[in-house]
Amino acid sequence: MENLWLADVLARPAPESVRFLSRADVVECLAGIDVVAAVKDALVSHHFGRTILPSEAYLSWTNRHGAYSRSIGMPGAVLENGTEGAYGMKIINASVSNPEFGLERAGGLGLCFDPRTARVTAVMEVGVLSAVRTAAVTAIAVEAAGYRATRSLAVVGCGTQARVHLALLLTRCPDLGRITLCDVRGPVAESLAAELAARHPGVSFSVAATPAEAMAGAETALFLTTVAEGYVQPEWVRPGSLLVNVSLGDLTDEVLTGASALFVDDVQLIVENPRRPLGRLVNEGRIAAKVREDRPSITATLGELLAGDIVAERPDTGYVVVNPFGLGILDVALFGAVLRRASGADIGQALELV
Ligand SMILES: NC(=O)c1ccc[n+]([C@@H]2O[C@H](COP(=O)([O-])OP(=O)(O)OC[C@H]3O[C@@H](n4cnc5c(N)ncnc54)[C@H](O)[C@@H]3O)[C@@H](O)[C@H]2O)c1
Repeated sequence: MENLWLADVLARPAPESVRFLSRADVVECLAGIDVVAAVKDALVSHHFGRTILPSEAYLSWTNRHGAYSRSIGMPGAVLENGTEGAYGMKIINASVSNPEFGLERAGGLGLCFDPRTARVTAVMEVGVLSAVRTAAVTAIAVEAAGYRATRSLAVVGCGTQARVHLALLLTRCPDLGRITLCDVRGPVAESLAAELAARHPGVSFSVAATPAEAMAGAETALFLTTVAEGYVQPEWVRPGSLLVNVSLGDLTDEVLTGASALFVDDVQLIVENPRRPLGRLVNEGRIAAKVREDRPSITATLGELLAGDIVAERPDTGYVVVNPFGLGILDVALFGAVLRRASGADIGQALELV
């Protein structure tokens, strides 16, 4: 059947196209961007109210292998402040069964919007960029919490995030001399350790059989697993250490409520998401969203630390937790920086829409 009537609805508007950037294009652009500075600027802009951060859209299902699968829509804007603003949206999807089939667990697209027309101006692959922004937040948090001089690091969960986190932290923490890796899939930890040891001969890499063993020797521990339920026990936590809960899932309620300082990226997003442990604890009233004397509380946001409103101190006997929820505005800030570079150097390809 030929739908000839469709010919009548074809208007003749001005030509429009979007710039498409593959992963290789995005990496080429990122190589020329100070990503930590860009993410830090966006966190500070957020602190001063120069961002728009709507709630996330969250869709989850169980795929035909019985695996948890989800799609998260993260729109956001960093408003103009001397430099150009950035408007856009990240769509980041994941299925925990993907690695069994040779695929990265998470993948998605970044969209840039034109502030004037609201049109989508660019579409880019977002897997590496997303990991880079998450690692940048960790690097910023480690420094803002007073742990830049950390000498020993534990990494629990050795997938994509671990690879990018280690690449970045090894350039930013000059005193790092000992790194212990741990993964339920032992060979994954072994091969990452061997790869890194070849590239960083001055650093000692080892593999621990359990997270407790990895944490015992580390001033800073990063949790980068995909667990659905917390398992880290308070007695595993080394006094004075920093725990970065990137997965949002590894730390038990006891470890979250027992922290001497608890830093987050955004209080509102955490409160809106009771399916994550910290959000649930805040909604249950077991952790206060603002500092209180009578119960455990969120100490400060990273923006407050970066703006100097609060100065973090390394505890002698207690420990510090960072719980970075993950803010779409940070991705959107990087999308904007990537697009500016791609446009300047004519990287990527134009896809004609009309
Ligand atoms: N907070 C944020 O902003 C943010 C952003 C991106 C990703 N994440 C989270 O980071 C985590 C890691 O993401 P990824 O892309 O590296 O995933 P990935 O699947 O590539 O790697 C996860 C690794 O953890 C290991 N693992 C799973 N359970 C474990 C356990 N109990 N003990 C030790 N190791 C275990 C797996 O074997 C795998 O190697 C995910 O939970 C993801 O949702 C958080």
